[in-house]
Amino acid sequence: MFGGVGGRHGHHGDTNLGGDVPELPWLRQVLLRRTHRRYSDRPVPDALVRLLLAAAFSASSKSDFQQASVVWLNDCTRRDRLAALFPDMPWIGTAPVFFVFLGDARRLETIGEMRGHKQPNGALEGFFNATVDAALALQTCILAAETLGLGTCPISVLRNHIAEVGDILELPNRVFPVAGLCLGYPAQTGFISMRLPLEATVHIDRYDESGLAAAVDAYDRRRDARHSIKDRQRAPERFGTAEFYGWSEDKARQAMTPEGVGFAAWLKTRGFTFDDPEPPAE
Ligand SMILES: Cc1cc2nc3c(=O)[nH]c(=O)nc-3n(C[C@H](O)[C@H](O)[C@H](O)COP(=O)(O)O)c2cc1C
Repeated sequence: MFGGVGGRHGHHGDTNLGGDVPELPWLRQVLLRRTHRRYSDRPVPDALVRLLLAAAFSASSKSDFQQASVVWLNDCTRRDRLAALFPDMPWIGTAPVFFVFLGDARRLETIGEMRGHKQPNGALEGFFNATVDAALALQTCILAAETLGLGTCPISVLRNHIAEVGDILELPNRVFPVAGLCLGYPAQTGFISMRLPLEATVHIDRYDESGLAAAVDAYDRRRDARHSIKDRQRAPERFGTAEFYGWSEDKARQAMTPEGVGFAAWLKTRGFTFDDPEPPAE
């Protein structure tokens, strides 16, 4: 039994659950999950990769529509072209295995055509459901990988060069990347990045942000005590040098640089309208 959440060094530090809960090795693994960006040369056998993909596609799926797909990128030429777009993130090119998790609003449409019930799926609902399915498959893959001793890193920067990525992967209309996933045996133990406390993320009965500022301040201090980033201040020439530089200042600065510019426009060229669907005919 353990009273805290994953121990002192876990995502939730010393969080008190208010009672004893079962100690399960898999749950402990979930609570200690971390991203890995450096991998050893040890190859990952194809059978293991397929096992991970089977686990990924065992994730829950909205309406059983199964609107996630994956590209398992093995071809070196395509992989190199993709990696060259992101020189700041060499792990995209060097990870032993690389997947791209796709939101796939196309397959349901094609199946409708096959069965003689043609129904466009480019409204916001189709985009949203496909995105959620792909994200659930992605995270299921991550957790399955960790139980096998593998490490992973999701890659959303793909969307920053969406036209090139779409070309490299030959994505057809209504299929789009949610995130890539680097995968391999970790070269290092990695680092657990502490999460916001449950008081900030869990609302009882109604949404209530009255305690947010205090919770974030306290979280910043706890996180700083475990792992200070004061010497890695983001863009001081733009934002100045903060006396105390914690997670919230860092994220507020990071969010000032927009990402995914051009993604919405690209999706609109790929058959997404983002409208509400037409109400059903009476
Ligand atoms: C959807 C998604 C996209 C991400 N994209 C990137 C990325 O493009 N490059 C990268 O190095 N890390 C990426 N990450 C990893 C996050 O930076 C990482 O999860 C975060 O810093 C928290 O660390 P932790 O996963 O170890 O808790 C991504 C994570 C998620 C969930």
